[in-house]
Amino acid sequence: MAADHFRTEHSEHLPMHVPFDICQSKSKSKSGSALSLKPSLFAKNKEKRKEQECFKSSEKHILLRKGMVLLRKYISLSNQINIIKKCQELGCGPGGFYQPVFRDGAKLHLQMMCLGKNWDPEMKSYGDRRSIDDACPPSIPVEFNKLVEQAILDSQVFIKQDQKLSNVEDVLPGMSPDICIVNFYTESGKLGLHQDRDETPESLKRGLPVVSFSIGDSAEFLYGDNRDPDMAHKVVLESGDVLIFGGEARHIFHGVPCITRNSAPSSLVEESNLLPGRLNLTFRKY
Ligand code: SIN
Ligand code: MN
Repeated sequence: MAADHFRTEHSEHLPMHVPFDICQSKSKSKSGSALSLKPSLFAKNKEKRKEQECFKSSEKHILLRKGMVLLRKYISLSNQINIIKKCQELGCGPGGFYQPVFRDGAKLHLQMMCLGKNWDPEMKSYGDRRSIDDACPPSIPVEFNKLVEQAILDSQVFIKQDQKLSNVEDVLPGMSPDICIVNFYTESGKLGLHQDRDETPESLKRGLPVVSFSIGDSAEFLYGDNRDPDMAHKVVLESGDVLIFGGEARHIFHGVPCITRNSAPSSLVEESNLLPGRLNLTFRKY
C-alpha cells in the first residue's frame, strides 16, 4: 500500500523515497517514552511573561537593511500549528520531505520539500518533477499565500512610515509566490551561506522578495554581502517570525549556522507534536 502510494507512473526504476514525518507520533508522545514531558502551568506562565517582557523592550518590526524586514512573532500560534499540520500531511505524501544531495555528493543537513515547483540542488534549477522519484511537487496551500501577501503589505506599510517614502514598491516590491521550499532542520541542522538566484532573470531583476517563515526552535541566521561567515551580520529567528528580503537585498548571502535546542514555545510543541528542530518555509516567485 505505502509502496504504491509513492510510486508514480514514471518511477518504476527509481528508488523508493521514505517519507520523513516532522511530527512525533501521537502514541510515542502519549507514552512519554520520548522527548518532552508536558510543561507545568508554572513553566507556561513563565514563558508568557517572558514573551510580554520581550515586546516591551523591543520593536516588533525591524528594518535590517534596505529591502530587508523582520516581522517578529508575526504568525499567530494557531496559524503556526496549522502550517505544521499541513506541512506534515504534505511532507508524508508524494513529493514530500527528503534529504537532498549537492552535485559533489554532499548531503544537505536538512530535510526538504518543494511546493509549486521543484528546486533541484544538484542542477540549481527549477522543474516540474524531481529526479529522486519523479514526483510532482504538491501545490502551495492558498492560506500560505494569503499570509505571505499580507506580510509583504504590512512590511511595505512599515517601510513607508519608517522611511517616509512614497515609492515603497521600488524598495520592496509586492509578490505572489508560485514556489515554496520547506526545510526541516533537526537540532543539528544547518545551511551554508548562499544566494537565492535560481528564479527567472525577470524575477531577480525586479527584486521580487523571498519571504521566510520560521516555526519551532530558534535559529541563528547570518546575512551579508559575501560568503564569508565572519563578515556576516547575525539575527536570531524565532518561532512565528517572518523575514523578507527583496529589492536591493534580494541577492544577499544568507545561511543558518545552528539551531538552538529546546527553544520552541512549549505550547506549540505540545499542540502540534513538532519534532525538536525548526521548520522553515521560503516563498518566491519563479
Ligand atoms: C534558505 O535560505 O533556503 C532557508 C533559510 C532559513 O532556513 O531561514
Ligand atoms: Mn536561501
